[in-house]
Amino acid sequence: MLALTLVTSDTRHRADGPIFGGMTVVKKTLIAASAISLSALMLSACGGNSQAGSDSGSDSLTMGFAQVGAESGWRTANTKSIQETAKADGVKLKFTDAQGKQENQISAIRSYIQQKVDVIAFSPVVETGWDAVLQEAKAANIPVILTDRAVDSDPSLYKTFLGSDFVVEGTKAGEWLVQNAGDADTNGDGAIDVVQLEGTTGAAPAIDRGKGFADAIKADPSIKVVASQTGDFTRDGGKQVMESFLQSQKHIDVLFAQNDDMGLGAIEAIKAAGLTPGKDVKIITVDAVHDGMQALADGEINYIVECNPLLGPQLMDLAKKVTAGDDVPARVLTKETTFTQDQAKEALPDRQY
Ligand code: AHR
Repeated sequence: MLALTLVTSDTRHRADGPIFGGMTVVKKTLIAASAISLSALMLSACGGNSQAGSDSGSDSLTMGFAQVGAESGWRTANTKSIQETAKADGVKLKFTDAQGKQENQISAIRSYIQQKVDVIAFSPVVETGWDAVLQEAKAANIPVILTDRAVDSDPSLYKTFLGSDFVVEGTKAGEWLVQNAGDADTNGDGAIDVVQLEGTTGAAPAIDRGKGFADAIKADPSIKVVASQTGDFTRDGGKQVMESFLQSQKHIDVLFAQNDDMGLGAIEAIKAAGLTPGKDVKIITVDAVHDGMQALADGEINYIVECNPLLGPQLMDLAKKVTAGDDVPARVLTKETTFTQDQAKEALPDRQY
């Protein structure tokens, strides 16, 4: 248990490197001596007197929730919404932070099955590779709710999917660029050279936002994605990849960052290169979390497509319904908007996240 405490406290908020990166030798040794693998640790932690699967609430409904990690401001707001709503609704929540690793999510889900929770919810790190564990949940008669991100498994293996339409988000970003193409040609050479910071490879929002954006910009042949690489949805990732784009590309007119955090990291790189974000390089991002909205209001980002992280209330509502045997829609979409710089200035004072 000592090792577990160290793992969770030291790595909870890391999103920029190997799971044990940055830890002291003493801590690494303690962990190596006390654990066979992280999966085993998480599994034992999630069972019985759980620590990694931290419990809250005490009423009849027990939910096991396997979260992606804490890679972005969006994710932090999403976790807070789920934990606070569970508490307010009297739902006993067993929560696991999978630290960006699919195998950790699978271990957590298996432990929830062993613990016979009433309902399992999770936001899948990547789209593929869930069939076996979802079949195990089905065989154990435990309903599963997907939140935020999709999987490519047979839909009969889960009850419903609550979250955004990421293709639409990418489309909105591309359409804005097409409509603002005149301003976006920052060196006036007639070509709009776009670099793209992709989210986590294999994750639904990375795949779908990329697709929606690519399809939308086909409307203007002068717009071309000249480089595209993953920044893993993190600020550090965005900064590092943008640095390499700035070195490898002759000129960049536009950055499409598939989330605010990568865009904010890229802004640091753009400034360090002596350029002005929002002017020399136009920037479009997705999420509309507080820091992104502030950068938009400050003129450093040009347009943000909202992705709503406040899924807690709808998730608890769906959980109560599926455990009561009520019918629920197979797909529940979240309501989202877009923000220009002026709209961000107006919205910021009342923004919840
Ligand atoms: O799945 C939602 C995405 O995941 C958000 O856009 C991003 O910020 C997060 O990490």
